[in-house]
Amino acid sequence: MDYIDLRSDTVTKPTPEMREAMAEAEVGDDVYRDDPTVNRLEELAAGMLGKEASLFVPSGTMGNLIALLVHCQRGNEAIVGDKSHIYLNEAGGMSALGGIQPWPLPNQKDGTLALDDILASIRTEDVHHPITRLICLENTQNICGGVPLTPEYMRQVGDLAHKNNLSLHIDGARIFNATVAQNVDVKELVAPADSIMFCLSKGLASPIGSMLVGTSKFIARARHIRKMLGGGMRQVGIVATAGIISLEKMTRRLADDHARARKLADGLKQVQGILIDEGLPYSNMVYLNLARDVKIDTKTITERMLKLGILLDPESASRFRLVTHYWIDDGAVEKTIRAFKTVLG
Ligand SMILES: Cc1ncc(COP(=O)(O)O)c(C=O)c1O
Repeated sequence: MDYIDLRSDTVTKPTPEMREAMAEAEVGDDVYRDDPTVNRLEELAAGMLGKEASLFVPSGTMGNLIALLVHCQRGNEAIVGDKSHIYLNEAGGMSALGGIQPWPLPNQKDGTLALDDILASIRTEDVHHPITRLICLENTQNICGGVPLTPEYMRQVGDLAHKNNLSLHIDGARIFNATVAQNVDVKELVAPADSIMFCLSKGLASPIGSMLVGTSKFIARARHIRKMLGGGMRQVGIVATAGIISLEKMTRRLADDHARARKLADGLKQVQGILIDEGLPYSNMVYLNLARDVKIDTKTITERMLKLGILLDPESASRFRLVTHYWIDDGAVEKTIRAFKTVLG
């Protein structure tokens, strides 16, 4: 059976065009900087984001970790959101491997960190204190509903960071979803940031890989740390070629995923027992809650939906996140709505 997989956009398999390009990719040893396809991808990513340089890394988690290790020394503090992927879902890498202390601030409903909270959390010069070095934002903010942070907010945080001698890193795993959702240019959105990580392997459908982007000096140091972490890859043009297709083509079709998330949310709103938060979806994610009178939990629903060919990943006993992506077409959206009606009916 061909399953409709709504668990995440990380489940996207490479497109037929990617598979063909992978078979024919020109490759070399990337640790020697000899892989022409990786070099082309890195130039393309830096150019698209309006920064000097970029680095191909195996995963978003490694990209974020490298950024933290470049910006911070052991004993430094990084300001992060309490609902951020860096804080919750990266296995504590910043503390375990970098000796960096996170200062988690509450993510507001709109995904932001309140500017006053950020200001208040910057450490004063005191022998007792760690030194604050970095602010990390996530755009789109996944747990807050896939909500995009605006260029104006990013500018405000960038100004605040730089006035206080801090750097700004963006976990932009889904930065192109953020630009499409707001109809803004990616260069404008990331201009205030000192470094950005974005993923090729989510809505952009590459099988593997993320990009870390920043100044040439930052990327030179990042390249060194990537090697230290075992992320120096060899003939990796074989996957970088898919990344080029992600950037040149897949970034242009994300609006389709957002439209399908909207269609899914609108359809599910009509299903008895399903509640969808006001405002959702903002991008390619639909978060839904079960009404109190629903007698079965998300685990049971997941098992029953699986029998109907639909893969779900419950967030809790009463909440799901459904994610649209390249492999979810209009038919899949309609089938999912029908299946929820059957299971909850
Ligand atoms: C917001 C965010 N940042 C970072 C990552 C990490 O990416 P990876 O799974 O490639 O390590 C994810 C993964 O889902 C994510 O959602």
